[in-house]
Amino acid sequence: MSEHADVTELAKRRGFFFASAEAYGGAAGFYTFGPEGAALKRNVEAAWRDRFALKEDNEEIAAPTIMPEPVFEASGHLDTFDDMLVECAECGESHRADHLVEDATDLEDAEALDPEEVADLIAEHELTCPACGADLGGQSVEEFNLMFETSIGPGSGQPGYLRPETAQGIFVEFPRLKEYARGKLPFGVTQIGQAYRNEISPRRGLIRVRELTQAELETFIDPETDEPDLQKVADVELRLYPAPEQAEDAPAAEGYQELTVAEAVEQNVISSEWIAYYLGVAQEWYERIGVDTEKLRFRQHLPGERAHYAADCWDAEAKVESAGGDWIEIAGFSTRSDYDLSKHAEASDDNFTVFKQYDEPRTVERPTVDPDMSTLGPEFGGDAGAVAEALAALAERDPDAFHDDEVTVAVDGEEYTVDTDVANFEVVEETEAGEHIVPHVVEPSFGVDRTVYTLIDHGLQRDELGGEPRDYLSLAPEMAPTDVAVFPLVSNHEPLLDTASDVVSTLRDAGFDATRDDSGSIGRRYRRQDEVGTPFCVTVDRDGLEDDPTTVTLRDRDTGAQARIPVGELVGQLEALRDG
Ligand code: GAP
Repeated sequence: MSEHADVTELAKRRGFFFASAEAYGGAAGFYTFGPEGAALKRNVEAAWRDRFALKEDNEEIAAPTIMPEPVFEASGHLDTFDDMLVECAECGESHRADHLVEDATDLEDAEALDPEEVADLIAEHELTCPACGADLGGQSVEEFNLMFETSIGPGSGQPGYLRPETAQGIFVEFPRLKEYARGKLPFGVTQIGQAYRNEISPRRGLIRVRELTQAELETFIDPETDEPDLQKVADVELRLYPAPEQAEDAPAAEGYQELTVAEAVEQNVISSEWIAYYLGVAQEWYERIGVDTEKLRFRQHLPGERAHYAADCWDAEAKVESAGGDWIEIAGFSTRSDYDLSKHAEASDDNFTVFKQYDEPRTVERPTVDPDMSTLGPEFGGDAGAVAEALAALAERDPDAFHDDEVTVAVDGEEYTVDTDVANFEVVEETEAGEHIVPHVVEPSFGVDRTVYTLIDHGLQRDELGGEPRDYLSLAPEMAPTDVAVFPLVSNHEPLLDTASDVVSTLRDAGFDATRDDSGSIGRRYRRQDEVGTPFCVTVDRDGLEDDPTTVTLRDRDTGAQARIPVGELVGQLEALRDG
C-alpha cells in the first residue's frame, strides 16, 4: 500500500462500496454500497437531514426520479446540460474534451470555451487518447447531453428523463408546496435521493458516477426582504477562494482568504448573505461529521463555470489523498434567482407565484384595456381581440410596462408593438394590498457519494500499535457504521457467549448499533473493527466473569487504550464517550 492507504481498496475489502454487477462485467460509473458503506451513507444522510431539514425548519419531500420531457425542456437541461466529448478515431473511446485540455494546460475552466476552441487546443497541444495513445488532433468536439432518456408507458410511449438533479422534483411541485407553506416566504424544501448523469468518462470510484445521491435544499425567498439569520453562524471561520473579477477565461484566484462569515459579508467577498449563511452552516456540519477542516475550502465559480441556472455559485471542495491529493467538489451553493420557477410557470401555465402582502396598502396606476381596441388601427386586422387580451394580461402582470411609449406583446408567436398613446388605455388608480411575486431560490446541493468518499479518505489513519503497523478509520462516532463491537474472548465457552449476547442486547436496547464478532483471533477482530471505524470494542473474558460484579474491557479505537469496567456501567460510559 502507498503511504496513504487506498480508499477504493479498503472500500472493496471491507464492504463499503464496489463496482456494481461485476459478475456481468459491470458498467462504468455504477457502484453498490455494501453493508458498511450503506450504513455510513445512511448516517451521512441522517446528519444532513438533522441539520438542513430539521434544525432549519424545512420540509422534506420524495419526488419520482423519472419526469416527462416538458419538465427538462422548461428547466433548460435538454438544451444546455451538456459536456464536451471527443471520440478517439483509433479505439472508439470517448473522453471529456475540456478535462483533457485542462490537464494539459493551465486553463481552469475549459468548459467555458466553444467546442471548436477546445478542438483547436487539442490539436495545438498534440493531445493523445488516454486509452490507446492515438493522436486526437483533428477530431471534432461535440456537445453531449448528460441526461438518460427513457420512454414512459408501452410502445413508443411518452419521452421521459431520469432526473439529473433532485431539485427539479421540488421546483415542479412548487404550486402545491407553497400552499403547504401557507404562501409565506421564506421557506425551504429538501430532498435526498438519486440523480442520474450519463457522464462521458466516469472515473475515480465514487467521485464521478452515473447514478449518484444528492441531498438538496431549495430555499424560496423574496430577494427584496428576506434575510438569513446570519448571527447563528457569524463567527464560523471559512477558507475562501473568491473568483477574481476578470475576463471569463482568466485563471482562478491565487491563494485564499480566511474570514469569518460576518467578515466575508462585510467585505463583500461573498455578495449573497444567503450563500454566506449556508457556507457557515456547511462548515460546521462538515466538522461535525468528521471532514478534516484543514482539507476543506470554498471556491467561487468563475463566470464560465456556472450552470445555466446559476447567478452565483460557490463549491465546497475537499482535498482527498487517495485521489492524488486533488481537491474535489463535494457540494455546490447557488443563487438560482427566479430562473427555474419562471421557466416552469411559462411552460406549464400554472401559478408559481406567492402573494406578497405590503406593510401598508399602496396606490398603483393600473392600465385597463378596452376590449374593443378599435383605436389599434387596421394593421392589427382580425388579431385586435387577441392583442387586447394579451395587453390586458400584461396590465395585470406588469402595469409599469405601460409607462413607456410603446408596449410589445406576443400572440401565437407573433410580436405586436402598440403605441401606448394611441391605444385606448385608460389608467385607473387602485389600492393594492400586495403583489404576486415569483420567489428566488438559494440552493445548497450536496453530493452524498463524494461526502462518503471524503469521510473515508480523511478518516484513514496509519500508526503503530503494540509494535505492529495498523490502519484504522477514525470516523466520528455519529458516522460509524457500528457503534460498538462485542467480542467473547473465546468462542467455545458458553458463559462467555451468553454474557456477550446479553451485553449486545443491553446496548441495542439503549439505542447503540452493536454487533457481536466471535471469529478469528482477538487481534484480527480488533483490526477488522478498526478498519471499518467502530469507535469502541468490548471484550468479555473469563477474568471478568469471575469478578463481582462482572467486568468487561472497553477499548478505544484511536488510542487502542483498554479499561476494565463493571458491565453495569457500560451503557453510561459509552453514552458519555459518544456525546463527548
Ligand atoms: N442542483 C444543483 C446541482 O445538481 P451540481 O454541482 O451539478 O449541482 C451537486 O451537483 C453535487 O452533486 C456536486 O457538488 C457533487 O458533490 C455531486 N455530483 C455531481 N455530479 C456527480 C457525479 N457524476 N458523481 C458523483 N457526485 C456528483
